[in-house]
Amino acid sequence: MADAPKLGFAAYAAPSKGVLVLFCDEKIKFGPAARKALGPAGGLVAKAAAAERFTGRSGAALEIAMPAGLHVSRLVVIGLGKIADMKPRDFVRFGGVAIGKVPSAAAMATIFAELPAGGMKPDQAADLALGVRLRLYAFDRYKTKRKEGEEKPRIAEVTIAVSDVATARKAWTRREALADGVVLARDLVNEPANILYPEEFARRTGALKKLGVAVEVLDTKDMKRLGMNALLGVGQGSARESRTVIMRWNGGKRGGKPIAFIGKGVCFDTGGISIKPAANMEDMKGDMAGAACVVGLMHALAARKAKVNVIGAIGLVENMPDGKAQRPGDIVTTMSGQTIEIINTDAEGRLVLADVLHYVATKHAPQFMIDLATLTGAIVVALGQEYAGMFSNNDKLVDQLNKAGDATGERVWRMPLGPEYDKMIDSKFADMKNTGGRWGGSITAAQLLQRFVGKTPWVHLDIAGTALGSPQTDINKSWSAGWGVRLLDRLVADYYEKK
Ligand code: BES
Ligand code: MN
Ligand code: ZN
Repeated sequence: MADAPKLGFAAYAAPSKGVLVLFCDEKIKFGPAARKALGPAGGLVAKAAAAERFTGRSGAALEIAMPAGLHVSRLVVIGLGKIADMKPRDFVRFGGVAIGKVPSAAAMATIFAELPAGGMKPDQAADLALGVRLRLYAFDRYKTKRKEGEEKPRIAEVTIAVSDVATARKAWTRREALADGVVLARDLVNEPANILYPEEFARRTGALKKLGVAVEVLDTKDMKRLGMNALLGVGQGSARESRTVIMRWNGGKRGGKPIAFIGKGVCFDTGGISIKPAANMEDMKGDMAGAACVVGLMHALAARKAKVNVIGAIGLVENMPDGKAQRPGDIVTTMSGQTIEIINTDAEGRLVLADVLHYVATKHAPQFMIDLATLTGAIVVALGQEYAGMFSNNDKLVDQLNKAGDATGERVWRMPLGPEYDKMIDSKFADMKNTGGRWGGSITAAQLLQRFVGKTPWVHLDIAGTALGSPQTDINKSWSAGWGVRLLDRLVADYYEKK
């Protein structure tokens, strides 16, 4: 990632250098601190707004270089639109919009966290800061040369001006933990598969120990002993060994039932013997985005000392074609004892999850399990890149995730499950087969997972569309948005933390 800028909070004061960012409403009305900072330059803003037809529409910007009467090199005014129409999640977005208008050459930026009616609340100001951090993220560690105009973003220092510095800083600590979690997830997804293979991924989760997370790594021998043959079968054609990592954060009641998050961690998916076409295969370095999200979430929860007991479990494999690789027609016996006939070696994510879901359900008896997986191309066909597919056996969890999705903008859309779909994966030779044909491909994949969760309340999020080649937004310019970390952090905060 690019070096994070120094981000701090200070009391409202007109800065003497750098870029000043102010917010106004759809009537170009400013708050009292902004008006005071502008002083006579307020007239300049009114004239410039008229000349540029800037109306204060939501997300619109007015930029004035070397504004007369101010000591800054640039004044940026961002429209918030009608204040009554603002949603809570907009503050993060406006943090991104604001810093997006600051030229990367600027050494310093000051953003006034103020609405026309007065100072933003501490949580809102901290949300702005979160948006700033997320927008400035760039994965550029492998760029050794740059063309002109492609210089690294170098905004060195960002100050969020607020009315109450101490409470804003306090609100920022948990957002900072979350930002670090999102950035960690993005880094893992962006990292190429020659660098980030299962063992290396497992090694990197070790950094969570510093935050008080217990990290247990199962190697091939451990998994053989446990009978996790579905997971091992996927990895058997790779020169890289498979791993399962179980992370545990105990911030809740001693002995209280944990909640659990499970991630698909296919570090590279060639398809195996059922090999994928060459076009865009490089994207399959991101087939571990579910696992990356779980690790990012564990980081965020531990770093902000969330009052909850939580398990994170990730199955890490590489799916390669090889003399030792699994074949179509092979039958594997899963840890649960159920057998699966492999029809297509490219339907590998469900095989990995079958064993990890069963492991977590039986070893940890969680309150619920939520798995995240870049599982099917079919979900991208169905929902595009805006919503993740959501499959569940529990209406309450669905309701909570819908609300957390709306609150964060990481949205989920429920898809159906049912016996008619379930029978599509019955096999002639084994208990089930790993594909159900072309139709309803995301649903039959979810049906297979459901056969491994028992009675545990469970949600499966198919993030193939949202997690890779992420849409460019005001708070993400990266190939990976780190999708899901903010969603699940919110779910935990709103519904599962001891208050
Ligand atoms: N990792 C892929 C799914 C995927 C596709 C993720 C595009 C992200 C973007 C998964 O392992 C896969 O190959 N699924 C197959 C299943 C099929 C063989 C039943 C698919 O979706 O084509
Ligand atoms: Mn695949
Ligand atoms: Zn895959």
